[in-house]
Amino acid sequence: MARTPFVCGNWKMHETVPEAVALASEVRDGLGEAAGKVQVAVAPPFTALHAVGQALAGSRVELAAQDVHWEAKGAFTGEVSPGMLLDAGCAHCVVGHSERRHLFGETDEAVRRKVGALLGAGLRPIVCVGETLAEREGSRTLEVVERQVRQGLAGLSAEQLERVTVAYEPVWAIGTGKTATAAQAQEVHAAIRKILRELGGSAADRIRIQYGGSVKPENARELMSQPDVDGALVGGASLKAKDFLAIVKGALR
Ligand code: PGA
Repeated sequence: MARTPFVCGNWKMHETVPEAVALASEVRDGLGEAAGKVQVAVAPPFTALHAVGQALAGSRVELAAQDVHWEAKGAFTGEVSPGMLLDAGCAHCVVGHSERRHLFGETDEAVRRKVGALLGAGLRPIVCVGETLAEREGSRTLEVVERQVRQGLAGLSAEQLERVTVAYEPVWAIGTGKTATAAQAQEVHAAIRKILRELGGSAADRIRIQYGGSVKPENARELMSQPDVDGALVGGASLKAKDFLAIVKGALR
């Protein structure tokens, strides 16, 4: 089953509004042969979403947010709702990133609520899962990832599952320069696909599973050539248009 590869840049807490618009415009103008063959999105910080959305309007680059709250509105100081993301021009939203889980206490239950709220608003969640170094060294990788996938996606119909992207991001590979080998990535991606098949039957063949964690132009092609690696969630390397575009092109099959 051929899945369109999906590459998303996660800009984290980087870029002012003018910097973000300039970076997004460079990505928009540099897709070249990847346009229409690789699905591409960028996730700027909340402050730059609207301006970047305007710069990307009508282009092949989609807008993603980095987080969301599950309520539609109300007294939730500091939070942003799915409707607000939609209003700003977003099509996607990252959920359960390991930095949110480990630095800000995001739980699997919060991930589940956010996924439901995003789907309800017509947005597509990118649900991040991944083990820490201690968990990998304790041979608990598959157990941890399985729990995160099952709890984060609990209760979704096959139709809803198809709108979800899963991002496997081993925590020990994020921002460290250490990348999982293509074989290590494929092993976990295949395990995730198996769980998705249990949850959603044949929908699992259409769900994209991205790899994330120190993806660079040098390793992107090999990682994404694995049968169950359907793209990448890119942090550091997405802040340089040239590197990000090289990764996008590495997804061409
Ligand atoms: P990195 O980040 O590419 O800088 O390792 C990936 C991510 O956190 O999504």
